[in-house]
Amino acid sequence: MKDKLLNEILREYDAYRLEQREDLKLREVEVHSAVPELAQLHQSLVTSFAEKARALIVNPELKNTEEAIDEKRLLELKEKETALLIKNGYPENYLTPRYRCPVCQDTGYVGDLVKEKCNCLVQRLVDSSYSFSELSGLDKENFDSFDSNVFPNIPIAVKGGAQITQREYMEQLRTLLWDYQEAYPDNPRKNLLFTGKTGLGKTFLLNCLAKSILDKGHTVLKITSYNLFEHLFKSAFRNSSEDSLLVKDGIFEVNTLIIDDLGTETRRNNFTAEELFNILNERYLQRKHTFLSTNLSLTDLREYYSDRVTSRLFDIQNTIILQFQGQDIRLRPKR
Ligand SMILES: Nc1ncnc2c1ncn2[C@@H]1O[C@H](COP(=O)(O)OP(=O)(O)O)[C@@H](O)[C@H]1O
Ligand SMILES: [Mg+2]
Repeated sequence: MKDKLLNEILREYDAYRLEQREDLKLREVEVHSAVPELAQLHQSLVTSFAEKARALIVNPELKNTEEAIDEKRLLELKEKETALLIKNGYPENYLTPRYRCPVCQDTGYVGDLVKEKCNCLVQRLVDSSYSFSELSGLDKENFDSFDSNVFPNIPIAVKGGAQITQREYMEQLRTLLWDYQEAYPDNPRKNLLFTGKTGLGKTFLLNCLAKSILDKGHTVLKITSYNLFEHLFKSAFRNSSEDSLLVKDGIFEVNTLIIDDLGTETRRNNFTAEELFNILNERYLQRKHTFLSTNLSLTDLREYYSDRVTSRLFDIQNTIILQFQGQDIRLRPKR
């Protein structure tokens, strides 16, 4: 069932590539009739490519050697073409294919021998079903719009005895997480666990991270714990909807999985704990990032989930635990 969506997306990729190829051809026709010199040059380029291709077929070992492709000559021809374009008042990339994704050149796949889904395709799959992709609102909640003034300047007790205010504390968290996304994906610790009561800015900071990481071209799936476990339950037991199967794939495939509000899911005894362990463990083995937020205290977490889960969650080799503290800012009068 999930292949149906994949096929649909790939068909759209194909259509887009075809459309771009047609556009390029039209631009070529236009330019070549206006500037005959460019038409001749194009002919030489085509001949050059054809010669190389023939040489490769006859003698496949030539691959990767300089003989196979007379790179220098091709480059010269290309440069000449660009110069002529500019001279005749065209943009320098007028005869260059326009890719939405330069990495896979809009094919959706990367890799020579082993084909893998390109990040753009994984993200498209994740985004295609809005019912579980909870990434809207990132234009409002991101590092640029982070405003520490929403937090009161009241002292909060922090570990080590030093008194700092909630606002100062949040500024420190912002810096810490800014640095984290700068280092992403090479952070030694792949997991983040935000704990603290509601209205302390946990979801906001998760969104900041999601936006930054997406902007760097990595894949992100952000989902509330409630929705995640509903999908998992459905895909395991009944009426496996396309969405649910996609979620199941997505949670293992994406570079970063963000589970918001852990603890709000419907509790189904062993099922929840087992599934959560599977997710955390599998992603841990694949060295992928998982960020979680929860209103539960560390003690509550221990009570709610199995030891296997908490040993993954509280593994300080791999998890940075951040405790949010202070007053619920939703209860503050708007200034
Ligand atoms: N750093 C921030 N800058 C601006 N607004 C914020 C910030 N942090 C939180 N908010 C706003 O405060 C409210 C509560 O924050 P939220 O992240 O939802 O808290 P939590 O997830 O801890 O319950 C939201 O409306 C959010 O947009
Ligand atoms: Mg929240």
